[in-house]
Amino acid sequence: MSMSVTFTINRAARTVELDDPRVTLLDLLRERLDLAGTKKGCDRGQCGACTILLNGRRVNACLALAISHDGAEILTIEGLAEGDALHPVQAAFIEHDALQCGFCTPGQIMSAVGLIGEGEAGLDPERVREGMSGNLCRCGAYRGITEAVVAATQAMGAAGQEDAA
Ligand code: FES
Ligand code: FES
Repeated sequence: MSMSVTFTINRAARTVELDDPRVTLLDLLRERLDLAGTKKGCDRGQCGACTILLNGRRVNACLALAISHDGAEILTIEGLAEGDALHPVQAAFIEHDALQCGFCTPGQIMSAVGLIGEGEAGLDPERVREGMSGNLCRCGAYRGITEAVVAATQAMGAAGQEDAA
């Protein structure tokens, strides 16, 4: 028996027929919707490579069953830039050389966007490191990642103040 689920993914409505209730959001994105920017590292919730925003909160897509999130709003790395304009977190990762092989990078960036949205870490590198600790980087690009997240937080805060002015 197949089941129909509908999501808003990167601001567009997508309906998918599921033949198997055990399909994860990660496999749905990568294998059914051609959104392969979200990476599969461990497939068991330990590396953060599959991080997406689900209703505005960061989650490991490998641990989330698609069927359980019918109607959810999903943002993946493919939906972050606005046309040619990079999201401030993407721009900061480039500016601060926050990647080497790049495999963990989509998850790092989505996690950073979530962390900044949570507003818990501010500009404190130690708290940023703690907030990003669920995202592993085999290349050890942690220093650049932390710098990029702090810089993006600052840039987004400055942008908010300009908007408010
Ligand atoms: S692939 Fe999901 S946490 Fe590693
Ligand atoms: S940049 Fe290679 S795993 Fe992080």
